[in-house]
Order: sequence, then structure tokens, then C-alpha cells
Amino acid sequence: MTTSPPSLDPASPEFQARRAEARKIIDAIDPAMQGVMAADSKRQEWFETVYSKAEDDPARVPWANLSAHPLTSAFVEGQIRGITGLRVLDIGCGLGDNAECFAAAGAKVTAFDFVAQAVEWAKRRFPQSKVDYCTADLFALPDEWRGGFDLVHECYTLQAISQPLIPQALGILASLLAPGGKLLLVARARSEDEEVSGPPWPLPPSVFDIAKTQGFEPLVIEDITATANVGRRHWRAVLRRGVISEEWTFSQREKVCARRFVFTSDAGTPPAHPACASVSLDSSSHSASAAASARASSLRCFANCAALVGWMIKASGSASAASTFPMRV
Ligand SMILES: C[S@@+](CC[C@H](N)C(=O)[O-])C[C@H]1O[C@@H](n2cnc3c(N)ncnc32)[C@H](O)[C@@H]1O
Repeated sequence: MTTSPPSLDPASPEFQARRAEARKIIDAIDPAMQGVMAADSKRQEWFETVYSKAEDDPARVPWANLSAHPLTSAFVEGQIRGITGLRVLDIGCGLGDNAECFAAAGAKVTAFDFVAQAVEWAKRRFPQSKVDYCTADLFALPDEWRGGFDLVHECYTLQAISQPLIPQALGILASLLAPGGKLLLVARARSEDEEVSGPPWPLPPSVFDIAKTQGFEPLVIEDITATANVGRRHWRAVLRRGVISEEWTFSQREKVCARRFVFTSDAGTPPAHPACASVSLDSSSHSASAAASARASSLRCFANCAALVGWMIKASGSASAASTFPMRV
């Protein structure tokens, strides 16, 4: 007698039964379920255990529905101008369905998760994928990602980390965005005074006030009531990395233009950097080539320092014909 393979249809009773069985096991070993958090506030060990115990069965990963979240896919479909070419970052990507949804719409997608097994699984599921999948921890991301994305997508990760980490996490998400870039947040929602017994911990409305303190300007906040489609109350919000003002400075003598974006979250001035201070922009006492080299090295250094606080720099040989200086904002 042949037995049929396990169902991969999340709506099937058999898939749901496997999920319920796995849920009991992983809840029992979740310290947060017992109210213990301090030792592993990022809950990394638990996430690793979930993916490892699943043994390639998505039914055993409670959030894996083998399709993009309906609120995310509806957002992507609703973009009138499309998202082709946008640099999108999917955080806590799990098995990759949301990242693939953005990639299918033409975005250049990077997706990461701090569980290597999840990332490998996503790659196996989508062998032809254009998504750049990598293993990374939200709280220790590569420096070169700062300011590198037009859209950051977060679905169900903020509600899964220990709640005192949320301000820091939102600050990091803001820092990943290019000026004017946006965060798409999809999460379970609750009222401010509603008791929660997480994880997951549905987010209260005050999360958007916290987001403001971290440099975000809420553009749209949708409070979506439970429907057959999404099951429970959700937020779907679009928050923009807020630019309060732009400042331009121009040195006539050095023919150097610098544009600085001031963000709500920025400290205001670039950090002092020894090399910046020691290389003079004044070329009068140098030979032409030494001056050019000093200026180039000073500008490089300035660009690196400036990148830390979101500056964009242009350098030019003449005020009218500016060439773009390498930017890392
Ligand atoms: C609840 S799951 C949601 C997965 C996916 N976004 C989805 O909607 O299907 C949260 C995911 O975030 C990952 N995660 C949690 N904290 C993380 C962190 N600090 N850095 C990177 N990934 C993290 C977990 O491993 C897990 O895959």
C-alpha cells in the first residue's frame, strides 16, 4: 500500500493537524511562553529550534503559509507606478514568499534572516530566484546596507522579538532607508490597554509614536479588522524616513558642494574623524597634484563620516559641471 505525501496545502486539515502538533512542541520549549526573556532577548535559539525541528516540513513552521502575506501582496499589486527597480529589503524573511512577491513585481530584493537554515530552505524553494538571500541579524547588519534601500518590508518580525527591543529595531530599519525611503509594516494589532500573552506580541498603536522618535513619519496606518483573509486584527502601515530639511553648503574656493539631509533621528553633526580634521581642504600651500590628492583623500574621508549620518556629497571641478562623488548614504 502506498501512502500519499503530506499535504502542502495550508488550508487542508492534514496540514493544519501537523502544524498544531508542532505548535505544542515548540511552545513548550519557548522560554518566552514561560515569561523568561532576559537570556535570549532576540529569541534566536528558539527560532533556530523551530526551523531545525521542522525538518523541511513547512507545516511545522507556524508562520509559513507558502505564499506572500495577503496584505503584502495586495500592497504590491496596488502600486500604480509599480515597484520595478526599487531596492527592497525583506527583514526576517523566513521561507522567502514575501521576498519573492517583491522580486516577481520587478524589485531588486535583498532578504535576510538570522536563522541560516531558513535562508537555505528559501533558496532551495526558489532555485531560480533573483532575490539575494543572506543570513544576517537585524541587530548586526553590514554597514554598507545603511541608506541602501527604497523600501524595507517587515512582516511579523517586530511582533516576535522582545518588546523592549522595538525602539532599537525601528531605529535600525530607518537607518537602512535612503532619503525618503519607506517602511512597509505588516503586523498583528492590539489596543493599547489590551492584555497580551505572547509571543507573538501584537503591536499597540503606540508603536507608531515610537517609530516617530526613530525618524519615521507615518504616511498611512491601516487598522484592519479580522476577516477570513487575515484572520485577526492587523496593522498595515507605510512609514517614510522623515527628512526635516536639506542643507547645502558650497565652497567657492574648493568648488565643493555638500548636501546634507537632516533626519528626525539624526544627531545633527557628523562624528569627528581624525583624518577629516587633519587633511586640509585648503590647497594654496600645496603643489597642484598634492592638493588634488589631499582634497580627494579628505573628501573620501568626509564621505565616509558623512555616510554615518546620512549626508550626500557631490564634488566638482567647477561649480557648473558637477560630477557625482561616490556616495554611500
Ligand atoms: C514570525 S517569523 C516571520 C517570517 C516572515 N517574515 C513571514 O512573514 O513569513 C519571524 C522571522 O524573523 C526572523 N528573525 C527574528 N529576529 C530576527 C533578527 N534579529 N534578525 C534576523 N531575523 C530575525 C526569524 O528567524 C523568523 O524567520
